[in-house]
Amino acid sequence: MKVTVFGIGYVGLVQAAVLAEVGHDVLCIDIDENKVENLKKGIIPIFEPGLTPLVMQNYEAGRLKFSTNAEEGVNHGVMQFIAVGTPPDEDGSADLKYVTAVARTIAQHMQGHKVVLDKSTVPVGTADRVRQVMEETLSGRGVKLTFDVVSNPEFLKEGAAVSDCMRPERIVIGTDNDDVVELLRELYEPFNRNHDRMILMDIRSAELTKYAANCMLATKISFMNEISNLAERLGADIEKVRQGIGSDSRIGYSFIYPGCGYGGSCFPKDVQALIRTAEQIGYQPRLLQAVEDVNDSQKHKLPTFIKRHFGENLKGKTFALWGLSFKPNTDDMREASSRVLMEALWEAGAAVQAFDPEAMDEAQRVYGHRNDMKLMGTKEAALQGADGLVICTEWQNFRAPDFDVIKNALKEPVIFDGRNLYDPERIGKRGFVYYAIGRGASLNIA
Ligand SMILES: NC(=O)c1ccc[n+]([C@@H]2O[C@H](COP(=O)([O-])OP(=O)(O)OC[C@H]3O[C@@H](n4cnc5c(N)ncnc54)[C@H](O)[C@@H]3O)[C@@H](O)[C@H]2O)c1
Repeated sequence: MKVTVFGIGYVGLVQAAVLAEVGHDVLCIDIDENKVENLKKGIIPIFEPGLTPLVMQNYEAGRLKFSTNAEEGVNHGVMQFIAVGTPPDEDGSADLKYVTAVARTIAQHMQGHKVVLDKSTVPVGTADRVRQVMEETLSGRGVKLTFDVVSNPEFLKEGAAVSDCMRPERIVIGTDNDDVVELLRELYEPFNRNHDRMILMDIRSAELTKYAANCMLATKISFMNEISNLAERLGADIEKVRQGIGSDSRIGYSFIYPGCGYGGSCFPKDVQALIRTAEQIGYQPRLLQAVEDVNDSQKHKLPTFIKRHFGENLKGKTFALWGLSFKPNTDDMREASSRVLMEALWEAGAAVQAFDPEAMDEAQRVYGHRNDMKLMGTKEAALQGADGLVICTEWQNFRAPDFDVIKNALKEPVIFDGRNLYDPERIGKRGFVYYAIGRGASLNIA
């Protein structure tokens, strides 16, 4: 099938590459000329495991194309995916200007029937807004053409985006038109071979499903962080508690890891956006507000521990930082806990020597102007002469480091671990002071 994807970001590029991989003819449109030119040269704008070969192979096979020419994009596919960003507006609600811009573009250039699929995460009612924008644009052109608007939210996880799209757990389709369902069955057939993953519903329910999923996951994390704050005050070990509750099949082990807060381009903005949606209809979302509040304060835990240990004034101190991305296997630093940490350390007068396996370019782009951040080539280099080690991201190769190397390189053997990677007892025996979340030296100091 011929498919057009507007927006070549984490969602658009991965979805487009996966659709091309199963044989569809996919044209990607973006307004970022640089990105499009780079992709044509085989330069992939993001780090995502397995993505580079997938894009290259399908580009070379001619099934995946890139362009900035929106008209060409509209003419290409009956299926028109919208996969542009929906960043938070000033009040936290989702800013729909990119989504409505694409809707307008499609209506400006379409010559026949189109199926517009919203992959971006958008508030309930956005499909109506897209429809309205398209109708206005078509009537401005003085033409009468038909189109469908479908909600088809994306559930991929950054860091596992390719495998999530190749083997989706579910394909949520919100539509009021049975003919569209048939078209989408054809589009997604290669992903449904093992069993039918399509979950059909009305448009508003599909739009809300995406927010509900992300808010549920964020709630699990904030709940566990809340309990870790209690554990610190009560002298309990949160990791023991985690295992104790995770063994209950009704609770399960996933998404109950305590830590220094969730970040990324989705959870923070989606929780905020659902809060604003609720407020706009006169409902006070007390639980969602608490989820956000707990997360905001959790991101300040590591700087708090550091100041408890070294004092409020950190002038002249340098900290080794392992992990800049908001989670492992991505270079994405949007809303990352490392940013809150670094900014708090800089504010208190300290400098940072940072290492991340993938997010160094992104850190350079965001903070390259600062002379109190040095990006180091290896995790060991980041340690040299630092006053302490801070860990913000649970990358695999941080899990079993050579502790003698760490001890010899640091001025003082102290670790502030925002991801609970080590065993407090074992690391204590090696002579480290070990602050973690809800365990180790963090107990009874709150
Ligand atoms: N990143 C994730 O893990 C994830 C997962 C599920 C859903 N989502 C949702 O998917 C949407 C996209 O997220 P993302 O992380 O891929 O965003 P992104 O910022 O990585 O990419 C968005 C792309 O859209 C392009 N764009 C903007 N306006 C355009 C226009 N008029 N025409 C063509 N291209 C345009 C931008 O240049 C950019 O390349 C968001 O709503 C997000 O909430 C993201």
